[in-house]
Amino acid sequence: MKKIAVIGTGYVGLVSGAGLADFGNAVICADIDADKINLLKNSEIPIYEPGLKEIVFRNVNAGRLSFSNNVNKAIKDSDVIFIAVGTPEGENGASDLSAVLEVARAIGENLNDYKVICTKSTVPIGTGLQIMDKISKLSNSSTKFDYVSNPEFLREGSAVKDFLWPDRVVIGASNQRAIDMMKEVYRPLYINETPIIETTIQTAELIKYASNAFLAVKISYINEIANICDEIDADVHVVSKAMGVDGRISPKFLHPGPGFGGSCFPKDTKALISTANELGSGLEVVNGAIRANKRQKERMVAKLMKLMSNDVSGKTIALLGLAFKAQTDDIRESPAIEMIESLLASNATVNVFDPVANANMKKKFNQINVFESWEDAVKEADCVAIMTEWNEFRGLDLAKLKELVKSPIILDSRNILNNDTLERHGFTYDNVGRK
Ligand code: UDX
Repeated sequence: MKKIAVIGTGYVGLVSGAGLADFGNAVICADIDADKINLLKNSEIPIYEPGLKEIVFRNVNAGRLSFSNNVNKAIKDSDVIFIAVGTPEGENGASDLSAVLEVARAIGENLNDYKVICTKSTVPIGTGLQIMDKISKLSNSSTKFDYVSNPEFLREGSAVKDFLWPDRVVIGASNQRAIDMMKEVYRPLYINETPIIETTIQTAELIKYASNAFLAVKISYINEIANICDEIDADVHVVSKAMGVDGRISPKFLHPGPGFGGSCFPKDTKALISTANELGSGLEVVNGAIRANKRQKERMVAKLMKLMSNDVSGKTIALLGLAFKAQTDDIRESPAIEMIESLLASNATVNVFDPVANANMKKKFNQINVFESWEDAVKEADCVAIMTEWNEFRGLDLAKLKELVKSPIILDSRNILNNDTLERHGFTYDNVGRK
């Protein structure tokens, strides 16, 4: 197995580092953020990700995984360097590559032997060439390195599972030596015949964007079909079920909701469009998905306002769920953000509860009232809105809810409640395409 340095210990770096250690490699997860490294050294995991604590500790205890604030030393001591730092949305939708290029600089300056440099972060097409150029310029010409694009396909909330049992591993490289090194790194996956796609660097970079943007298109598509269902009294779940049994469509990612959020789809779709615009080739379908997604979040606000006869001033609205999806504490681009902004702007009182994302949303909106249970959040509420499909909201005791609220009005933006049960308990309700 290989000596690996993973630079960047966020959602991608920490999961990838622990996963690579689980594959039997010796892994150093390095980060310039000393506080984050100290937390990890003190056995604390700074992010909410099911199963992450267990896999980190298993590999730390086995001596395969360690943490370091000394990025330069981690690079020097390793055969394979994974770049796993953030690539946030920059100006006009293009990705901000400053952190990636900073790591490339550190690699160039610490290239003391042949290494494979592997970018795990989602980077725009053509970034590989920039990284290779930077490293070449900073290192002495005698020391060789190879570059690999190895994009991640991790979903927050199931990232550990997605890493250990991926649908595919994509390896973009320019020579066999680099590919052979990656075969060693991912040896267990090769043994259990996980599909491994070996291709060029730029093809690998595009595969990531093409995959994510397609998933975003699929979500916006079913959301727009749901909006038609609202108008013709059809059931979007029956539509998506009947669509999904067609093997060409598949039932996955056909769940209508309040719009997609997270740190990936919104950023990756804009980055792909930014690249397409630079290349002078259109990307109308993805443009449409982004526009439809913005409208979907606005539509949820309109639905709630309609339930409240367009007057929430002085009213108490309880939001159940704040994270952009269940099983995460991440609120980036969450539909709950637009909802909170609109309600506060209309002088409503906003009560919120999320099993894990409360603290993150409170940092963003000081005016919201955060509660530690859904029961406390809905007390005396004039309206309840389910914004995230946490399991504890799927099994909501509607009789208890009816007793606690001031008015039995509910917006189920995730279609997780049963309409008949809502009607039986006398609720006025709305949802997404399931009139
Ligand atoms: C996504 C990709 O799935 C993953 O492969 C990539 O590596 C990173 O981006 P993530 O953003 O973590 O993962 O979550 P995902 O489960 O894809 O959901 C993204 C958004 O789409 C969430 O807001 C979710 O609520 C929404 N969604 C997802 C739907 O509205 N409907 C669906 O059917 C599926």
